[in-house]
Amino acid sequence: MVSVPRGLWGSRVGFILAAAGSAIGLGNVWRFPTTVGRSGGAAFVLLYLGCVLLIGLPIMLAELAIGRATRRNPVGAFAALSGGGLWRWVGALGVVTGIGILSYYSVVAGWTIGYFLYDVGGTFGSVPSEEYVKQAFTALISNPTMALALHGVFMAATMVVVLGGVKGGIERAAKVLMPVLLAILLLLVLRSVTLPGASVGLEFYLKPDFSKVSFATVMEAMGQAFFSLSLGMGAMITYGSYLSEKSDLHTSALWVVSADTAIALLAGLAIFPALFTFPGLSPAEGPGLIFVVLPNVFDKIPGGLIFGAGFFLLLLIAALTSSISLLEVPVAYLIDERGWTRRRAVVVLGTLAFILGIPSALGHGAVGWLTSLPGIGVSFLDAMDTIFAKYSLTVGGLLLALFVGWRWGVEAALAEIAFARAPRVNGLMFRLLVRFLCPLAIAVILLQLTLSSLAG
Ligand code: TRP
Repeated sequence: MVSVPRGLWGSRVGFILAAAGSAIGLGNVWRFPTTVGRSGGAAFVLLYLGCVLLIGLPIMLAELAIGRATRRNPVGAFAALSGGGLWRWVGALGVVTGIGILSYYSVVAGWTIGYFLYDVGGTFGSVPSEEYVKQAFTALISNPTMALALHGVFMAATMVVVLGGVKGGIERAAKVLMPVLLAILLLLVLRSVTLPGASVGLEFYLKPDFSKVSFATVMEAMGQAFFSLSLGMGAMITYGSYLSEKSDLHTSALWVVSADTAIALLAGLAIFPALFTFPGLSPAEGPGLIFVVLPNVFDKIPGGLIFGAGFFLLLLIAALTSSISLLEVPVAYLIDERGWTRRRAVVVLGTLAFILGIPSALGHGAVGWLTSLPGIGVSFLDAMDTIFAKYSLTVGGLLLALFVGWRWGVEAALAEIAFARAPRVNGLMFRLLVRFLCPLAIAVILLQLTLSSLAG
């Protein structure tokens, strides 16, 4: 194992931006509303908030602590802290998951490129209606050349950024562009909640109906929390490994978690009130939800085309600051542990993720059996999302909590987190959550799901 000298973030703000850039992405604007819509609305939102606070925040602190303590990629980090035992496989699971998620993340990000071009080219300019937008969306994603080309362009962009290092370019860009994304999102929320008939959607989004909650819903909420916060596969271990000794992990993590949650909640507020004012659209629309609803909202804003183009461009940038963290994890592994050059690691892994993403790109109409997998009935992309985002991230989070709680040790983690400036009770909370609540809650939900799928 060779330990190469590693770069450091320039400042705490730089790190918070990079980590928030990783967290804020398609997970907030695309996956969150999609999952809320499918899982029955407000009750899910509450479960989600619970998961973020009780499971997401402690796991994020744990990941950052592991990263900074070892200054390694996930595989090397687990190996270093456990004396080289089986724990390194938890890191390996994360490395594989990074490629898995990146493969289809890039496909959806490609759709946002298409939408940006639609807006700029004026496709939505001529009397759009839900039907019209739906057809345009279907035409875009079911066209194999388009879907593959856009997927390829996004993957190439991700590779270029990771090749060049993250610090100067993306970090600086994120600083300017994230606030603009927030501003446009706020504008959308304002328009959406003032549409006639918005109250139906507001009720769906804000008034919980707990009869819709099941173990499957809790599992969705947990998976979404891990996905949105970039947890469960060592992305935060990797980002934490570039942190300097002095920075206070506790405050940084709070910033990242709050920013990520705020953007997700706003995205829901932009989408659901509008959704219910368009007859013929269902909240359970699936992965296409935002792509069908949002252009209709933009249509009702003066200068909507410009805002639409701006919005999808910014969403694209948000997706890029996330996808680079997905690629950075396996890249860091190959550099640290296998002695590869950054260049070779990026080219090989990026190509691999592109190829793995091809069935996801073709599984929206271009190829029938990929659109509805035989025997399962969901698209290839949906299946990948279930395997990697729902299961792999939660299993990774469970093992990570067990590792920090019972193997590496809460004391060591706490020393790394530097709670000095935080109230004492937080240390106690962290101990309780990481040792008991997190592993127990995740294990119970996984077990229950496995049992019920066996019984079914
Ligand atoms: N959090 C990102 C989003 O919300 C996606 C993402 C980036 C991610 N890196 C990750 C998810 C690492 C899980 C693990 O879009």
